[in-house]
Amino acid sequence: MASDLSGINKCLLQSEALQKYIFETNVYPREHQLLKDLRDETETKIPSRALMSVPPDEGQLLSILLKVMNAKKTIEIGVFTGYSLLTTALALPKDGKITAIDIDRSYYEIGLPFIQKAGVEHKIEFIESEGLPALDKLVEEVKEDDLFDFAFVDADKTNYHNYHERLLKLVKVNGLILYDNTLWFGTVTGSPKPNYPDWINYNLESIIKLNKQLATDPRVELSQVCIGDGVTICRRIA
Ligand SMILES: C[S@@+](CC[C@H](N)C(=O)[O-])C[C@H]1O[C@@H](n2cnc3c(N)ncnc32)[C@H](O)[C@@H]1O
Repeated sequence: MASDLSGINKCLLQSEALQKYIFETNVYPREHQLLKDLRDETETKIPSRALMSVPPDEGQLLSILLKVMNAKKTIEIGVFTGYSLLTTALALPKDGKITAIDIDRSYYEIGLPFIQKAGVEHKIEFIESEGLPALDKLVEEVKEDDLFDFAFVDADKTNYHNYHERLLKLVKVNGLILYDNTLWFGTVTGSPKPNYPDWINYNLESIIKLNKQLATDPRVELSQVCIGDGVTICRRIA
């Protein structure tokens, strides 16, 4: 993931005007000031990677889901500078808890001052680790009456199917598991795009495989949402 992402459009609507309209009408006016500040800081400090953050319209969706379901205990794999993490922390009640896993703490450090300023750091346990071993450890430790309400997956795409198996043991029945980037820059419908960076083509097969797997998985009910780069919302039913 070393390429420069600054020239790529993450909006699947593929209309700059419509994207601008949605953001200016519904999204920016309601974005929490510290989320804005975190977003600005990410764009200033690491402009070539800023696209990795969850876009603010998707953040709004996460926030509503978390509040509607009264989520208290969540897990996130793929923190980066913490846009989705701060969104989650702001949406949870005072005694909410987030287990946040990322292989690289240095990105998290960029967003941490904004999380602290928002007064929500106490809700977060940050684990610097590869996602899979961290989840395996949680699966060993977690008690049946203390499962997670909500999971957000936004890390290495080639492992999403492995995360799915673990998360079905960690998230309670009726809880939600969200997978980000499931429409993968609009490439899931066709063959790899030669003009796209290698990492986009590299991950394409894994995303297509995951989408097929989720679509036929009787353990979840799902909705593929066309927001940001595509989010699949799974409700655990078994
Ligand atoms: C797309 S970014 C996450 C964006 C974040 N949700 C946000 O809103 O800012 C992906 C993150 O996954 C992390 N990551 C990549 N491979 C990983 C792995 N195997 N285990 C855990 N984290 C990983 C990267 O360090 C990066 O911070």
